Amino acid sequence: MRTLPAAVPALSEDKKTSKKIAINHKRNKKQDHTELMDQCAKDFRYEDCTDEYWNPEEFSLLYATPLWIEADEGQRVLLNQLFWVAYYSQIISAEVATIFFNQTSAAGMYALEGFRDVCDMLDLESAQERAHINAFKTVSDQFEEAVFGERVFSWEMRGPYAQTMIFPDSNKLKDWWKSLQLRSFGLLSAGNAFIASQYFTVRGMRTLNGKMVQQKLSLYYQRHPDQENAPLPSAISYYHFMDESFHFNSSCILGHDLIGSLPKPTAFERMVGNKGIRGCQFDHRNFSAVVKGLFWYEPATFQAVYKVLRSDIFKMEDAEARHMMYRCFGEENDGNIASFDVLKTAADSYEKFLDPLDYVSDRNRKMQVMRDTTLEGYLSTNRRALSRFRGTNV
Ligand SMILES: [Fe+2]
Ligand SMILES: [Fe+2]
Repeated sequence: MRTLPAAVPALSEDKKTSKKIAINHKRNKKQDHTELMDQCAKDFRYEDCTDEYWNPEEFSLLYATPLWIEADEGQRVLLNQLFWVAYYSQIISAEVATIFFNQTSAAGMYALEGFRDVCDMLDLESAQERAHINAFKTVSDQFEEAVFGERVFSWEMRGPYAQTMIFPDSNKLKDWWKSLQLRSFGLLSAGNAFIASQYFTVRGMRTLNGKMVQQKLSLYYQRHPDQENAPLPSAISYYHFMDESFHFNSSCILGHDLIGSLPKPTAFERMVGNKGIRGCQFDHRNFSAVVKGLFWYEPATFQAVYKVLRSDIFKMEDAEARHMMYRCFGEENDGNIASFDVLKTAADSYEKFLDPLDYVSDRNRKMQVMRDTTLEGYLSTNRRALSRFRGTNV
């Protein structure tokens, strides 16, 4: 029983929230897929699964665009595998940032009484992210080495202050500004429990869309008639989704339930919380037909797509590759329509997710930044960028 006076009640006095945290942590620890992930990374050899799909068919690079429709079966297998590589190359970047902000936010919350369990839960999550990153990186590096002999979608390891989107609408100045914002948020969250807890609202939004895509990716393994011999990348998708469902739960608990155990936010704290949500909207305001479900800025993908078209997979000439890119990105097709639909679904689900939080501004609540995006705007931006694009061959 607590007897010493305190300005803020200890988290342990909020029985409902502390129980939720304890259960989520305990279950995650019990089901932890780190060993299985590490084993997959160790056993992965691209030559063992070159001829198979790794994801359900609709999760293929440029699915439902003219490129996919005209591709032969062998090319489709590679587009399917490339989706895996491109998608998880993005997830690596997001998880590098997550590891860092899990730590800074844990420091911010540990300043209040009774947060040991929260911090232990986050430690486990960060360790899992490192195993996830290792598995994603092992497969992506091996794949790109074997297929292209160079990096196309994957990237060398980097720190948490880089742009989280690996194909963003950016330039040197914007990169610098973003890194300054991330540094500031790291400092603020490490010294303020409200801002720290609201990092998890942002983390929850960021993973909400990921969760929907990853659940579908995990189905390939789950429905595989011979799981023992299923391609290892599909098993990695499944194990990852299992770990991540606990991470999403903790984002909800820490971002939503915990708020009642914290002092009422000041105007400054509300402003920083809203800036974080706005930053997430801003990062998620674009969509890409290359990888359905990611918020890449399409013109930033052109160089990578051009490399794929000129590579041994498609063996296109320069003019042919450019024409194909125009058909995929400059004209409406089922691929870019489906990707735009994912953006709209994401905005709707973020809106619902933010509903219980009083401090969120109207513009954030309505997902106004994301909702300003249109398919027409996407097509005209791409057309302009394509007319300027000069591809460099592989
Ligand atoms: Fe992860
Ligand atoms: Fe995670």
